[in-house]
Amino acid sequence: MRYLLIAALIFLSLNLQAQKFEGLAPTPPMGWNSWNTFATDINEQLVKDIADKFVELGLKDAGYEYIVLDDGWMAKERDANGNLVADPEKFPSGMKALAAYVHSKGLKFGLYNCAGSETCAGYPGSRGYEYQDARLYASWDIDFLKYDWCNTEKLNAEGAYMTMRDALAKAGRPVVFSICEWGDNEPWNWGQEIGHMWRVSGDISNCWDCEDDHGTWSSWGVWKIINMRKNIRSATGPNHWNDFDMMEVGNGMTAAEDRSHFAMWSMLASPLIMGNDLRSATEETIKTLTNKEVIGVNQDSLGIQGFRVSNEGNIEIWAKPLANGSWAMTFVNMNEKPAELSFDWSEHKITDAETGKGLNTKEKTYQVRDLFNHKKLKNTKSKLKATIGVHDVLMVRLD
Ligand code: GLA
Repeated sequence: MRYLLIAALIFLSLNLQAQKFEGLAPTPPMGWNSWNTFATDINEQLVKDIADKFVELGLKDAGYEYIVLDDGWMAKERDANGNLVADPEKFPSGMKALAAYVHSKGLKFGLYNCAGSETCAGYPGSRGYEYQDARLYASWDIDFLKYDWCNTEKLNAEGAYMTMRDALAKAGRPVVFSICEWGDNEPWNWGQEIGHMWRVSGDISNCWDCEDDHGTWSSWGVWKIINMRKNIRSATGPNHWNDFDMMEVGNGMTAAEDRSHFAMWSMLASPLIMGNDLRSATEETIKTLTNKEVIGVNQDSLGIQGFRVSNEGNIEIWAKPLANGSWAMTFVNMNEKPAELSFDWSEHKITDAETGKGLNTKEKTYQVRDLFNHKKLKNTKSKLKATIGVHDVLMVRLD
């Protein structure tokens, strides 16, 4: 009997180790990542400044939590024991001290590595060192790991990510595990038991709808990514999110395009990971990023990825079911000139084919609220009318 109990306990603990940390991302993770703006030009002062800005600019208050260092934080070689080393010039105080600084602000700290032999920028990857690296991250009090896919010749993606998941579980410190294999192996089909979020595409570019051709790979504008992955809605949900990539808000698009980008990432229930330099961000950028009403749509507890309703007059119309029968609706003007929207609710019966939820204004009159202008509009008995600027957005909430 005793042996049976011991065997059962061993079996149970082995099984527990082989699970991702549950409950870490009930709503899409929110934070900041260094890559889009700084690439490998990162250092400890930058992280401290960003952490300070989180508090100062109201970003923490708006829900942003994770500060993640992307590629380029390591020295080029592991040490004599095979441990990763933080670049001593960029991070003279070391990662544990930096994590402590970030934690002292009530925030969380993340790092990047790669399933391959080297990271995309040529630093030591985790291949063959997964358990050792996971132990090191735990000893540094790391809360988030972005795990990339460069230099992974012949590796099986699901297997490689599972190995790192298990290594993190074994190390014992809860870590949000962010799968970054660009959608090549369709992680939305297997990532749910492994990670908390997975990139759905190659890298984002700070443009509206472009493809930046880099020869062997492309990076993608906001609408390219949206259109590429609007049909994998069913994969997303609490604790497992389709990740549409770090945001380019504040990185060079127009203020209107930034608003639309932010609105769409919220509609898609994507993690909201800022990718701009918060030290020099304009008031307008911060206003967009801290818009709590829009963030509320992203963070809605149902965690449903919104869907495209139609395109009328080149205005993209998207809908997202929210908790308690509420809805978010977003209208993006794709035209190169301002557009007049006149949307008759009674002529549109909107049904979510995935969840069966319906927005039926014949049965119910909804209150309508404009989430960027923070004002109440006429209810759904009246037409929704607005002038939408070039590439700008009208986002409303129906309660
Ligand atoms: C890949 C990822 C990016 C970034 C870089 C770092 O391209 O998709 O998000 O992490 O690597 O080298």
